[in-house]
Amino acid sequence: MTTGSTPGRTAPSLPRTRMAAAQTERPELIVADGWRDYALLDCGDGMKQERWGPHTLVRPDPQIIWPRHGREPGAAWETWDGFYHRSDKGGGQWEFRRPLPESWTIRYEPLDLTLKIRPTSFKHTGLFPEQAVNWDWFSARIAAARRAGREVHVLNLFGYTGAASVAAAKAGAAVCHVDAAEGEMVPRERGVERAGRRSGALHRRRLPQVRPPGAEARPALRRRDHGSADLRPGQLG
Ligand SMILES: C[S@@+](CC[C@H](N)C(=O)[O-])C[C@H]1O[C@@H](n2cnc3c(N)ncnc32)[C@H](O)[C@@H]1O
Repeated sequence: MTTGSTPGRTAPSLPRTRMAAAQTERPELIVADGWRDYALLDCGDGMKQERWGPHTLVRPDPQIIWPRHGREPGAAWETWDGFYHRSDKGGGQWEFRRPLPESWTIRYEPLDLTLKIRPTSFKHTGLFPEQAVNWDWFSARIAAARRAGREVHVLNLFGYTGAASVAAAKAGAAVCHVDAAEGEMVPRERGVERAGRRSGALHRRRLPQVRPPGAEARPALRRRDHGSADLRPGQLG
């Protein structure tokens, strides 16, 4: 990992052995290379071109601050089924070259997960594929703990469409999935592996947006689907 130094500041000195350990324990970049159904095909000029199963999408990503390799700035993206055009007024919209299903599934084979993909009006697809490295990491640890006879409970706050929740449930954890947006979870749940739900290990919670203190009265939890921990915004701090 590269580290920058602030002028005028002296970097804290670590013993050599601790520095070496830190370097070996924290790799520079962990690549999510277990995918077969997903691939980042190209990126540059604030856009990325990705293959999601049978469909190729091009969409904006403000973190892509470099130019496209081997292309003139502003060169057209040629190969795509769906292209998300940003609007000057904010947001944007998809253009499709051929009719795409409203949603489809892709597989993450290392963990035997089937995940639903849906191009949303706000350019998301419902999945952050780079998160697979985290799913791999905690799934191995959950499975090891279960083999050792321990129970594992996972509280997934800001859980979004639930890929991590389902991966954890599949590995053997009891999971409580919490998100403010019910819409984030519902389409996901129809499409993902239902292993967690079948085993009763996966619980969903819709937690309304927590407002800053004093802004407005905090809304209470409106929905209780499966009866596990009683989570209210106030209890989460
Ligand atoms: C970027 S997504 C998280 C993605 C997730 N880490 C993953 O890898 O799939 C952020 C999520 O946080 C939820 N969220 C934002 N503010 C929230 C709040 N105050 N309370 C609960 N959920 C919130 C949003 O609905 C959204 O689903």
